[in-house]
Amino acid sequence: MQLLEEFEGFIADREQALAGLRRYENEATALEIEQSNDAVHFLYIDKITETAHRFLEGFPGTCLYAAKANPHPALLRLLWAAGIRHFEVASIREIENVLVALPQAQLYFMHPVKSRQAIQRAYALGVRHFAFDSQDELRKIRQETGHAEDLCLLLRLSVSQVGAAYPLDNKFGATLMEAPLLLGYAQQFAAKVGVTFHVGSQCLEVEAYANAIRNIRMMLDGCGIEIDMLDVGGGFPVSYPDMDPQPVTDYFQAIEAALEESGFKGLDIFCEPGRAMVAEGGAVAVRVELRRGQALYLNDGTYGSLFDAGQLGWSFPSELYRAGRVHDGGSETASFQLYGPTCDSIDKMKDHLELPDDVCEGDWIIFRHLGAYGYAMQTKFNGFYSETMVAIEQAALDV
Ligand SMILES: Cc1ncc(COP(=O)(O)O)c(C=O)c1O
Repeated sequence: MQLLEEFEGFIADREQALAGLRRYENEATALEIEQSNDAVHFLYIDKITETAHRFLEGFPGTCLYAAKANPHPALLRLLWAAGIRHFEVASIREIENVLVALPQAQLYFMHPVKSRQAIQRAYALGVRHFAFDSQDELRKIRQETGHAEDLCLLLRLSVSQVGAAYPLDNKFGATLMEAPLLLGYAQQFAAKVGVTFHVGSQCLEVEAYANAIRNIRMMLDGCGIEIDMLDVGGGFPVSYPDMDPQPVTDYFQAIEAALEESGFKGLDIFCEPGRAMVAEGGAVAVRVELRRGQALYLNDGTYGSLFDAGQLGWSFPSELYRAGRVHDGGSETASFQLYGPTCDSIDKMKDHLELPDDVCEGDWIIFRHLGAYGYAMQTKFNGFYSETMVAIEQAALDV
């Protein structure tokens, strides 16, 4: 009976999440009916739900979704329907955006450098978990929350980025040497104190988390401080054409073993996946506006949702759509240089893309696994961006 009620609740939440979003059986129908002038973003309902369940069931702690990866309200509500209740946020706009979509959401303000106004507003809106990596930031948090006694403060540590396809070092994070003093300060006034780190995005090294956890244990043993919370951050990888990571469940097992071995199992444990939670749950379709020889000019580019393809040279599973169907162009393919729509000459993809050799104006290229850091990365430069987000019941190809 209880299971049935839970299932009915999930369906009701899911329907509510999708309210206001146009919904199609597949991408081909969506492209045909939308007739969009802009790129089209897709959300794959089942994939998002499945990935959220994998994290909720497999990660040995509380799973926070890092809203920066894709802040679209429908996606946030879909994750909520799947059971995600906690969200990592980096700015006051992210906080407000999540709360508008999900007034009951629990928020964690994990950017180590925040404005005074943002701290004040976040606290007023109910946020109690804040990250810091310096004494000055700690002072700001204390002052702007009116010396609150219910703060949960997490020290951001800088850890090895070995194995990360997209390292996040050199910018934030205290060293293990600096940590004892900072934790000691925080313990003087916080209700709970903890440690957080980020092993770098798209981390292909399963042991990276365990190594960081062991180093934290050694640091704590060295200074005799005990903590209440441990947050292993984001960084969980997804599969892209040039990257084939181990399943995320291997990461969960390695983390659980390291927590056990280090005596951290009783703490509040968190993770903050962005990419791994939503990359496979989304895609973007971009249209060819002109072909000139082997050059294709698209309606989206590096200032839009193809930042990672343009700036980092990452490739994504892709396929060509023509007049509402997958176009395989026979067996002949050719290599193409892809340009984004803005007037800037750096708006081009770093690597060439292999496509059917008769690709032409009006064709759509679907870039898959771009549910993370695609829609979210768009600028409004030159007026090229897309708010066209639709839900898809079934992906044409399960890549
Ligand atoms: C503090 C924090 N948490 C979580 C994430 C999400 O990381 P990922 O998308 O690699 O899972 C990021 C990404 O920059 C971050 O800075």
